Amino acid sequence: MRNAIGQNFFKILTSLVALSLITGCAPIAGSPTTPLDISSSEGVLPTPENEQYKDSLPLSLIPDLHSVDQSDEDHHIFTRHFEVASLSSVGEAQRALIESKRVEFDRNNIQDVSAGSGISGELNIRSYLSAVSTHIIGIKTITYEFAGASGGNSFITQWFDTSNNTMHSSRDLFAGEEQWDDFREYVALAATKNPEVIAEDLVNMSNELLDSVNFDAQGNATIDFDDYSIAPGSAGSLTVTVPSQNVVPLLSPLGVLARNAAMSPAPRSLISSVAPLLETLQSTESPASVSPPLPAKTERVDCSKAKCVALTFDDGPGPKTGKLLDDLKKANAPATFFVVGPNAKNRPEILKRMIAEGHEVGNHTWNHRSLPSLNSAKIRSEIDRTNEAIAAAIGEPASLLRPPYGAHDSITDRLAQAPVILWDVDTLDWKYRNADKVVAETISQTRPGSIVLMHDIHASTVAAVPRILSQLKAKGYTFVTVSELLGKENLKSGETYSRAPSTGKGSAKNGGKK
Ligand code: NI
Repeated sequence: MRNAIGQNFFKILTSLVALSLITGCAPIAGSPTTPLDISSSEGVLPTPENEQYKDSLPLSLIPDLHSVDQSDEDHHIFTRHFEVASLSSVGEAQRALIESKRVEFDRNNIQDVSAGSGISGELNIRSYLSAVSTHIIGIKTITYEFAGASGGNSFITQWFDTSNNTMHSSRDLFAGEEQWDDFREYVALAATKNPEVIAEDLVNMSNELLDSVNFDAQGNATIDFDDYSIAPGSAGSLTVTVPSQNVVPLLSPLGVLARNAAMSPAPRSLISSVAPLLETLQSTESPASVSPPLPAKTERVDCSKAKCVALTFDDGPGPKTGKLLDDLKKANAPATFFVVGPNAKNRPEILKRMIAEGHEVGNHTWNHRSLPSLNSAKIRSEIDRTNEAIAAAIGEPASLLRPPYGAHDSITDRLAQAPVILWDVDTLDWKYRNADKVVAETISQTRPGSIVLMHDIHASTVAAVPRILSQLKAKGYTFVTVSELLGKENLKSGETYSRAPSTGKGSAKNGGKK
């Protein structure tokens, strides 16, 4: 039997593994005596050297990523894992994973050999990129193990937070225990639609079963199940999909970043090339055309029909901004934060959270000076330095500018290199420092299409926000970011905007305000 398998056995197995990955559900060789007919597909099947996993992103998205191949021919062990020079946690976690698989394999293999099967097993481990952005990297590792009389695939996805060089499990993509339980229910529900799935296996669905959660291009969650875990081996490798609209409300900030990175992968090099990026922006005639994509959302609001309002918060982030984000999240209300450079530099985590939770970050300059009082070089520096701090935190410069005090002229507008965002509702929160007054001013002045000016550096303002949210909501308002309110496609660099046109009233542009 051993001779019949011969030297080509590994290649055949590898081809079958690759084939099953391509088709998603092709059965794996159940036994070496099963006739293996691969002749019809030969030539198109990937070889171990050049195999491409259908969902793998290009490795070039991470310039300092190294794919490391190792083989131990005597023991039929072949592994491919990743190392990322600037992110030590990747190599550490990948090596630890391979080591644990090897130990497990050696144990199984010794048992099988001593049990007299006479067949030495195979271990084949391959890693693939499932998501890449400045913030997060997803690596899916597929292990094919053949031991005794049968073989199968197992899957695990490791998530790496680039901001603090840490590894996270799929579980960490979810906001909390409750959300995780909800997710498991959705998975079970989706899995039972597959007639091959054994329902009993789903009842006690352990966390270990759900250790490979990813997202497809549409933002749906996909869960890879190890062979034999919830279905007979003949069913092959099963992937269960949980629809986007179900999974999005359950995600943690990390999960939102992961989903975005899978839907619209971006090169990891972005953060190290902030300066060249900004130079590119400066040399571009229309910076609005290269504005960053909005975070993924389940649905888009049409503000020409809905009663929209954009809450904006200036001068932060401050010590109370985290509490404000909690309240906005509870109300599912996106807002826009015009941050000043030093605060952005000191609190990059807060900026990152803003983006992850669907808010927009705008530029409010570095020193908060009245821009018309400065010369051109200083104006430029006020804007650029702040954009660099913003880009260092969230990977992209701001696409909107709010000049301090709303002060602007034709020169500052030209140098803004972004749409200039003013407001039509001034809560005067900085003056009153009184939550009741802030609530009253906001509610009485807000009209459909309004841009509301507040400051998240004041505790009284943050204290007022829950009531503002509930009262405006009761009046039928939908909360949107400034870009959503005005329509990204309508925004022009150097133009000023103080509100959105609502049902024919008002004007989107407000060129004269000083
Ligand atoms: Ni300000």
